[in-house]
Amino acid sequence: MKTQVAIIGGGPAGLLLSQLLHTRGIDSVVLERKTKDYVLGRIRAGVLEQGLVNLMEEAGCAERMHAEGFTHDGTLISYGDEIFRVDFSEHTGMPVMIYGQTEVTRDLYEARENSDGKIEFEVQDVVIQGANTDTPHVYYTVGGAARRLDCDFVAGCDGFHGVSRQSIPLDVRREYEKIYPFGWLGILSETPPVNHELIYANSSRGFALCSMRNDNLSRYYIQCSLSDSPSDWTDEAFWEELKRRIPKEQADKLVTGPSIEKSIAPLRSFVTEPMRWGRLFLCGDAAHIVPPTGAKGLNTAASDVHYLFNALRNFYENGSEDGIDTYSEKALKRVWKAERFSWWFSSLLHRYPDQSAFDLKMQVADLEFLRSNKAAQQAMAENYVGLPY
Ligand code: FAD
Ligand code: DHB
Repeated sequence: MKTQVAIIGGGPAGLLLSQLLHTRGIDSVVLERKTKDYVLGRIRAGVLEQGLVNLMEEAGCAERMHAEGFTHDGTLISYGDEIFRVDFSEHTGMPVMIYGQTEVTRDLYEARENSDGKIEFEVQDVVIQGANTDTPHVYYTVGGAARRLDCDFVAGCDGFHGVSRQSIPLDVRREYEKIYPFGWLGILSETPPVNHELIYANSSRGFALCSMRNDNLSRYYIQCSLSDSPSDWTDEAFWEELKRRIPKEQADKLVTGPSIEKSIAPLRSFVTEPMRWGRLFLCGDAAHIVPPTGAKGLNTAASDVHYLFNALRNFYENGSEDGIDTYSEKALKRVWKAERFSWWFSSLLHRYPDQSAFDLKMQVADLEFLRSNKAAQQAMAENYVGLPY
């Protein structure tokens, strides 16, 4: 088989890139290790920056998002029983969109299928060869049969555990990592959200987040120990712990019910440099991970897609290699800022096992500064709604 762009990974980054390329008549093939149902079953992000909303529009996939998603003009932040609001619209003129990653992915799959996009599911043994030559190609197996895909470029959109990053030689790659000493236990429940906007909560018992997908679908998270497993937590234990971590006024009106999904995510900051090697480009979680506080994972994958799409478009439409040559530098500049925000917002809101009495005082001072200072709120809001591409 031959294509212009071989895309490894059919998560949101790979699908969005494939659909955007299609709008410009650029051919791609997506190779996905899992089944479509498996990809759609993963409950992940829920807050979309305006940049991602714009890309979904450009891809022709924004109709359902605008009909069913909710725009949020601000968020609440609590510490103990104190609570304050940061108004995104006042500080930036922009809201965020509440629409699940699952739905984004579903819309992109539908668009690819409607335009006869080529997606191979359940592929195995993907090997990228010749990435630093003019004739890259990808070997893989599907249903026991060996295949070869020749292409002009390879987009590595295969997430943190994919093969693309590992295909860049170790003497070229530099990796930066921070592991956090806790995880997030998340549940999804068919109950009305406790508040019409998100609540990020710092409590003496650890972090909590009240989020949502729609009027009758809530997403809640609590900071947990890395040694916990979801089966250690009954629904009752989860609700009781959540109530202890949010202000009493909110806890009193929390509607509880059975969970329909429960999972634990570890927290990590990770960046690999460079994001390009020859004709191989890394995109999204394949190149970087953020702790989820602040919802930057999916959104940073989207900004990579923006830079890569424009680089490839410029190559095919104008014969220019400028975008390709500057992709890694441009993408990484924005990635590091998202890393900084996610790291800062995590440190503001979590309990760390080695925190001293002084560290705790610093956390409260940081929260009170944010509560009372317009410039601090503006900086937070600009980062939360998404820095410009
Ligand atoms: P992925 O979504 O990981 O997609 C990569 C795809 O590549 C997958 O479908 C995978 O099956 C496929 N693949 C992997 N290896 C291969 C291979 N060898 N061959 C072919 N295909 C392969 N972000 C937030 O903003 N908020 C959140 O609440 C949040 N929660 C998260 C919870 C969890 C458990 C995880 C893991 C991430 C979470 N994130 C969250 C991050 C966000 O979901 C990711 O940043 C986003 O999914 C990145 O998209 P992606 O397309 O780059 O990678
Ligand atoms: C969600 C996840 C986040 O990490 C976040 O900061 C906000 C919302 C969510 O899953 O809804």
